[in-house]
Amino acid sequence: MIPFNKPYISGNELKYIEDVISSRELAGDGKYTKKCEEFFEQRFGFKKAILTTSCTDALEMAVLLMDIQPGDEVIIPSFTYVSTANVFAMHGARIVFADCKSHFPILDEESIEELITSKTKAIVPVHYSGVSCNMERIMEIALRHNIFVLEDAAMAINCHFKSSKNEVHNLGGIGHFSAFSFHDTKNVSSGEGGLLVINDDRFIERAQTIRDKGTNKKSFLNGESDKYEWVDLGSSFSPNEITAAFLYAQLEALDVIQEKRMEIWNEYQFQFNDIQYLGFELPLIPSYSESNGHVFFIICDNKNRREKLIQFMRKNGVKLSFHYNSLHKTKYYLKENKLENIPNSEKFSDCLVRFPIYPELKKEDVRYIVSIVREFFSN
Ligand SMILES: Cc1ncc(COP(=O)(O)O)c(C=O)c1O
Repeated sequence: MIPFNKPYISGNELKYIEDVISSRELAGDGKYTKKCEEFFEQRFGFKKAILTTSCTDALEMAVLLMDIQPGDEVIIPSFTYVSTANVFAMHGARIVFADCKSHFPILDEESIEELITSKTKAIVPVHYSGVSCNMERIMEIALRHNIFVLEDAAMAINCHFKSSKNEVHNLGGIGHFSAFSFHDTKNVSSGEGGLLVINDDRFIERAQTIRDKGTNKKSFLNGESDKYEWVDLGSSFSPNEITAAFLYAQLEALDVIQEKRMEIWNEYQFQFNDIQYLGFELPLIPSYSESNGHVFFIICDNKNRREKLIQFMRKNGVKLSFHYNSLHKTKYYLKENKLENIPNSEKFSDCLVRFPIYPELKKEDVRYIVSIVREFFSN
C-alpha cells in the first residue's frame, strides 16, 4: 500500500532530544524554542515568531490579541479546517463565510467587501496547500476598513506572494498575524505544533503574557518585574523543549524537504497534464503564487466519481484523501444558522481529491499512481 503521508525524519531529532534530556531543562521557552523562533524570524523576516502547541492555539492567541468579543464578526472562507472558525466561535464571534475562487480553493478576494459590516473585526485568508490568497487586495480592503488580517498559514511554510509591483513577500509576514502548523501531515512537523507570527509591534509584549498563562513570567525572569504574578488573560500555549528540539531538527532540513517534495509535485503535474483530457480538472494556481509541494490534488466532476476513484485506487494499493467539509454545511454551524449556498466551496468539498506526497515517495511511485488514475478514467 502506498500511504497518503509519511512524516520526514531528518536524522538529528534524537540527538537534539538527548541534548534536552541531558540539560534537565524540559519545560517550554528554552534553548530549542528560541532556535526555532529565530529560524523563522531570520529566514522569513517575521517581526516576532512565537512557538505554540498547535496552529489552533496560535490562531486562538491571535483571537485573544485582537480582543474578539461576542457579536464581533469575522470573515472566513467556508473551505477550511474547523480550527480557523472554531477559535473565533469559542469567543462569541459571528462567523461570516466567504466563497473561494472557482479554479483554486483560496478565498475569493472580490467576495470580501460585500460581507463587511460595522461589526467586522477580522479577515482570515487561508493559504490552501501553501498557495497564496491575493494578499495585496486583501490588505488593501482590510486597511481601508480598519480590520485585522490573520493569515491561516497552517500549510504555507516557505511560500510567497508576488505583488503587482513584482515585490516578493513571504506568506505569514503580510497580515497583522499569522499561524503555522507542524502537525505530522505538514512539510515540517513535530507531531503536533504551531507558530504564531506577529507583524505588528503593538501586540508583541502581550502575546508573551498570553502564552505564559496570563502571567508576567518573562519580565520577572528578565529582572524587569519584582513579582511573578497574574497580569492578564492567557493560557498554556508553550510546547515543551522535547517537541521544540524535534522541530528544530526538521527546520534545519527545510531545503532538503522542499526539494524532494517539489520533485514529486512536479512529476505529478507533468504526468497529470498528459491525461487531463480524460475528464477531471487540474487546479489553476494564480500567477502571483506557486506550490510548496504540500498538497497535490485534482478535481473530479462530481462527488460520486471522486468516491469511486478513491475506492479504485485503494483496491490498487494507493491511499487518497479529500479535504475539507465546507464549514457552512456542518452540524455545529447549522444548529444556529440557515443553510447558505456557497458554490465554489461546495464544489471543492465534493470533488477535490489529494494524492500521496512526501519526501520518501519516488518518481516511479508517482508514475504508477497516475497510471492507475488513467485506467480509472479510461473505463
Ligand atoms: C487551514 C488549517 N488551519 C488550521 C489547522 C490546524 O492545525 P493544527 O492541527 O496544528 O492545530 C489546520 C490543520 O490541518 C489547517 O488545515
